[in-house]
Amino acid sequence: MAEEKKLFKVTIDNIAIDVEPGTTILNAARMIGGDVTPPAMCYYSKLDGSGGKCRTCLVEIAQGSEKDPRPMPKLMASCRTTVMDGMVVKNMTSEKVMDARNGVVEFLLINHPLDCPICDQAGECHLQDLGYEHGKEGTRYEFKRRTFELEDIGPYIQLHMTRCILCYRCTYVADQLTDKRVHGILDRGDHSEISTYISKAIDNDFSGNMIDVCPVGALTDKTFRFKNRVWFTKPVDAHRNCENPKCCGKVTLWLRGDEVYRVTARKDQWGEVQSYGGKVGWICNTCRFDKKKTVDWTIEGLTTISRHSVIGANKYTTLEMPNDTIKKVLHGRAPKLLMNIHNVSGVNNPNIHLSEIDRPSHMEDFEKSGEFVKGAGESTQWGLPKE
Ligand code: SF4
Ligand code: FES
Repeated sequence: MAEEKKLFKVTIDNIAIDVEPGTTILNAARMIGGDVTPPAMCYYSKLDGSGGKCRTCLVEIAQGSEKDPRPMPKLMASCRTTVMDGMVVKNMTSEKVMDARNGVVEFLLINHPLDCPICDQAGECHLQDLGYEHGKEGTRYEFKRRTFELEDIGPYIQLHMTRCILCYRCTYVADQLTDKRVHGILDRGDHSEISTYISKAIDNDFSGNMIDVCPVGALTDKTFRFKNRVWFTKPVDAHRNCENPKCCGKVTLWLRGDEVYRVTARKDQWGEVQSYGGKVGWICNTCRFDKKKTVDWTIEGLTTISRHSVIGANKYTTLEMPNDTIKKVLHGRAPKLLMNIHNVSGVNNPNIHLSEIDRPSHMEDFEKSGEFVKGAGESTQWGLPKE
């Protein structure tokens, strides 16, 4: 008869839980959930070897174990420290931890530009969340921030090295998921940077997953760049039968109306890519970058966003896809007078589908430029049909 596995009892912020030996403090805290869980900027449960780089997950160990109840002298990285039977851990309840975390956030922000208003990651950036929770209003840093030569790493991914916090997640994705890693961390110390070797473009089927694991806006989707703020879009779960055997085909579509602005892998409450049947739900570049029409997908329903997030602020509660025809909207009535709002609003050119242009959107895509009004043709300057 199989011997029953002995579980270790660990208490985190006064909440006790039994976990298997070998579980890290961070994962034990995730099992409890909520505010007990330390933030993690570099650890990623689906990437082997991740963790131990950023120090945001530091916790106080008030009692080492049942057998040796001495506290640990220093704060420990919870993503790399495994639990002992009878261990007592303090996260939210420790002033030392809060103080250290404030310091870590200050360090992470020393070189990170505060360009959230123009960063595509804004609204889903873990550093932005940490900044709000632990950041200070001002900075004590008086020196010049790090700058880097701009580097083009291919047609799909935009690299902003100044935003990188060197968490190494993207290099683990490249190592563990693709067969042609051409980028990594070059140089040492303050000069370390993410770069491609000899400026090779990153072109392999799964490189887009680096965007999903990047906790900040250092790697963003070029096909979505500057097209919309993420909180204006509506995330829905969708799937397709992808021919790539390594791709799970399950995604989140970020819609505005029925335009697909962005395709990402589905994320769990920790901001990590979800797993299905024990396999991580990575998606291929074809699904991510080339399938930008709703007809390419079977839409399942609204995405659940459980993590505290600005995206959840205006969360829809039911999924209603836009109606195709005016008649449907008007419940069968035909309109007597139709005003073409595009011609008068200056919102965007009706001939341009923002999600389909292969560049960031410019002022001309939105503004009522001369040509654009001239193009109205059939209508008066107010968009009313000509008599
Ligand atoms: S680019 Fe992003 S994922 Fe890669 S090391 Fe920098 S912060 Fe981490
Ligand atoms: S998440 Fe533990 S050190 Fe980064």
